[in-house]
Amino acid sequence: MRPFYVTTPIYYANDRPHIGTAYSTIAADVLARYKKLRGHPTRFLTGVDEHGQKLERRAKEEGLSPQDFVDRMAPPFRIAWEELGCEHDDFIRTTEPRHVKRVQEMWRRAQKSGDIYEGEYEGWYCVADEAFYTEKELVDGKSPTGRPVERVREKSYFFRLSNYTEKLLAFYEANPKFVQPEGRYNEVKNFVREGLKDLSISRTTFRWGIPVPSDPEHVIYVWFDALTNYISALGAPSDQSSPEFEKFWPKHGEAVHLVGKDILRFHAVFWPAFLMSVGIETPSQVWAHGWLTVNGEKMSKSVGNFIPPGPLVEAFGADVLRYYLMRDIALGQDGDFSHANLIARYHGDLGNGLGNLLNRLVASIVQKSLGGLVPHIHFDELEQIDRDLIAQAEKTAEGAAKHFDAVAPHRALEAIWELVIATNKYVDQTAPWSLAKNDDKKRLRQVAYTVLEALRWMSVMLWPVMPGKCDALRAQLGLPPIRPTEDTDKWPSAWGGLAGGTMTKPAEPLFPRFDDDKQRAVLERLGALPVAPTAAAPKPSKPKPLSEEKRVDAAKTETTAGAAATSTEKALCTIDDVMKVELRLGLVKSADRVPKSDKLLRLLVDIGEAEPRQILAGIGKTYEPEQLLGRRIVVIANLAPRKMMGLESHGMVLAASDENGLSVLSVDKDLAAGSIVK
Ligand code: MSP
Repeated sequence: MRPFYVTTPIYYANDRPHIGTAYSTIAADVLARYKKLRGHPTRFLTGVDEHGQKLERRAKEEGLSPQDFVDRMAPPFRIAWEELGCEHDDFIRTTEPRHVKRVQEMWRRAQKSGDIYEGEYEGWYCVADEAFYTEKELVDGKSPTGRPVERVREKSYFFRLSNYTEKLLAFYEANPKFVQPEGRYNEVKNFVREGLKDLSISRTTFRWGIPVPSDPEHVIYVWFDALTNYISALGAPSDQSSPEFEKFWPKHGEAVHLVGKDILRFHAVFWPAFLMSVGIETPSQVWAHGWLTVNGEKMSKSVGNFIPPGPLVEAFGADVLRYYLMRDIALGQDGDFSHANLIARYHGDLGNGLGNLLNRLVASIVQKSLGGLVPHIHFDELEQIDRDLIAQAEKTAEGAAKHFDAVAPHRALEAIWELVIATNKYVDQTAPWSLAKNDDKKRLRQVAYTVLEALRWMSVMLWPVMPGKCDALRAQLGLPPIRPTEDTDKWPSAWGGLAGGTMTKPAEPLFPRFDDDKQRAVLERLGALPVAPTAAAPKPSKPKPLSEEKRVDAAKTETTAGAAATSTEKALCTIDDVMKVELRLGLVKSADRVPKSDKLLRLLVDIGEAEPRQILAGIGKTYEPEQLLGRRIVVIANLAPRKMMGLESHGMVLAASDENGLSVLSVDKDLAAGSIVK
């Protein structure tokens, strides 16, 4: 199988890991794990970028030598990625001798091919971006990223990038998938079509960098240095052949650089030109992901919304954060991080969707009615509904693989969740608890096996994203953890791999529910901002409090702005208020009338718990009980129980009404009972 090499950008060591850099690293880890699962020899590289003027200045501010400073800043990256379950095969630091000598070798080779000449640079430089900009590129006197620029005039070596305009254009034409997503490919081509200018690749006004081999007065431009990490980590360029380089770099391997959209130009224009100059193959693909905002705002320390991954991992576990980031933020597009959305995914997809499915089956049915063992069944005796679920599993496996192959983990997860939802629905429809009650053992065995095998498939397909939880799920199914082996494709393809007679091992729920108090405590600890769980929704602006006098006036004159403000004010609630109400999707399992009441109906509603809830609803004048059977309705799940007409009601059914009547809220898709409504 073709070796696969995936890299993240090497992060500047002047910063701490945050949710944005965590996103890149997790995405790379997910791709690496997916390829490993498929049997590809795989290598995953990350690291830190330790040279340059930005680093030198930061070290000075800290009163440290640059080397002492980077020695202090690099370990938090290793630790953060480890905590996030990112299993890189190599972590490179650009101050390491193995890197320094390869960068100097790159320089020598480019010089030998006549692409480096000496001159003087005069123009703009942005230290924060470590990038040169032309006058035309500046926006209001700042860099295109909005950072300050400085006028620089210094002796410099130049790289003849202008020689590569045509070569690069021809290369893009021949490799239309070189830059992804497609929109970015066009952006890069358009930029190169304008004509490339020679690039300054050495600096003389500061010292913190790799010396130019033949002229140590110059240090090598930090991007020429940093980009080389992708091959220096494989032992190239070198006069001796390097087995890792031979194996993973194209021609033999497939090399994918995952980068943020802001550094695409360096990777898709400069890097292939440098490689062409020294006669080394270009990487297979540069994949540009978008940027994460936090609750709609750019992340920054000064705004106080800088989110380090550590506390989130502590609160939710690495896999939950991995799932949330990979599911909610489409790779290639900008996305928004919000604690509320993270919690919604945790309780919804994970708790009520996947966790509950496992719990319902293993802890309840298999343990209580099947002696804890995976049942033996005859596949040729299965019913149509079982075959339909198997067909869904096959469709999911095919679709999810296609999406992982296309570097679209969010789509792969969407596809896998179709199976999670279909399996929950299958459990609702086949009602194994009734089969157990009626002692229909044969059918119970078939149903239980079908669900357990579907869970096994999920445990494999979700492993790249949630390795720890998938191994824990597998332990409950009595299966060993996933350990990929080269040249063995472990992707599920043949139904029935779970052996009858395997002893299951129920354990703690995979995604235990946070009650209100715990949720509040977690959010407080994380310093979470008050936002509702809808990333795209515009935030309501807070109305200014009205004086008592104005309130009276406003109440009198409904057409004034004051009146509008008063009603808005009344309608607003805080996130704490919203979080207090737990709305869930309920499947109506039975309905009848409460004796001696023409208004009250008694419903038994499955809201994803072990037992259906009894809820009394005042909707009997509009609905006959039969009309509600099998309907998916919305209920308030955490309303305190109360007694009505001598019966306990635990929950509330939501309905809308006007002068023409009443209508119970429901959803137009067969989502799993217990799904979070937000
Ligand atoms: N050192 C260079 C990369 C050299 S690679 C040969 C660099 N470092 S960086 O630390 O500034 O940025 C590293 C990566 O983090 C970039 O891909 C950037 O897009 C990404 N991100 C930084 N903030 C981000 C978000 N808020 N959201 C998503 N990614 C973000 O550039």
